[in-house]
Amino acid sequence: MSRVKENIALEFDEFSGDYTRDMTNCVPHYLRLMDAIVESIPNSFKVSKVLDLGSGNGNLSARLMQRFQEAEYTLVDASPEMLKICRNRFPEARLQLFEGYFDQFSYQDAPYDLAVASFSFHHIGSREKEEIFSKIYETLRPGGILAMCDLMISKDHPDHPLLLNEWDLFVNSNNEDPEKWVWIMEHYDAFDRPDHFDDQIRWLQQAGFTDVSIPWKKGYWMTLKAVK
Ligand SMILES: C[S@@+](CC[C@H](N)C(=O)[O-])C[C@H]1O[C@@H](n2cnc3c(N)ncnc32)[C@H](O)[C@@H]1O
Repeated sequence: MSRVKENIALEFDEFSGDYTRDMTNCVPHYLRLMDAIVESIPNSFKVSKVLDLGSGNGNLSARLMQRFQEAEYTLVDASPEMLKICRNRFPEARLQLFEGYFDQFSYQDAPYDLAVASFSFHHIGSREKEEIFSKIYETLRPGGILAMCDLMISKDHPDHPLLLNEWDLFVNSNNEDPEKWVWIMEHYDAFDRPDHFDDQIRWLQQAGFTDVSIPWKKGYWMTLKAVK
C-alpha cells in the first residue's frame, strides 16, 4: 500500500520531522546546490527583501540570513508544520510567513530584490512553472534576481532511466533500509513533476528575464539564476 499522503501539504507535514537528514541522505548535492544559490549573488547586490518559495524548514533562508542579516524574509509554503519550524528557527529575523500554495500567494509589483526556490518547483507542473516565472518577474525590482535549484530533467527524457539508476545508488549508499528508495519513488510518482532545464530557461526568457545562467550543476541536479 502506498504511504504517500493526499496532498503536498500533508506529505511535507509528515516529512518535516527529520527533514534535513532525509534530504541530505536522499537528494544528491542537496547542501551544495543551496550554497551555489547564495554564492551566485554578487557582493555588490543590495538585498533588503527576499521571497523564499517553498521554504520547507528554512534551510535556504538560513543560509541567506547569514549573509543578508538585515533583510526582510517572506517564506511561502503549503505545509503548516514546515512553517512552524521556520517560526521557531528564526526568532530574531524580520519574517513574514504565508501558509498556502504558490498560486494563492499575492505577488505584488516589484517589492522583492531576490526570489529563491530550492527543490520546490519540481512539485508544480510545466504550465504552473511558466506562470510562476512571470509572476516572479513582476514581483522583482529591475535588476532583481531569481535563483533556484532543483532536479531539472523531465520524466520522459531519454536520460531519465539513467538518472534514476544513479539516484538509487546514492540513496542506497546512504541509507541501510532499502525501503527508503521505494518510498522516494512513491513520493516521486505522486508529487514530483520535474522539467528539463532547457524548457525552464526558455520559460524564464519568455517571462522577461534577460540574463539566465547556470552557476552550478552536476548532471541534472542544478542551480539556475535569472536576472530581471
Ligand atoms: C522538497 S521541499 C524543499 C524545501 C526547502 N526549500 C529545501 O530546499 O529544503 C518542497 C517544499 O515546497 C513546498 N511546496 C511544494 N509545492 C508547493 C506549492 N505548490 N505551494 C506551496 N508550497 C509548496 C512543500 O510543502 C515543501 O515544504
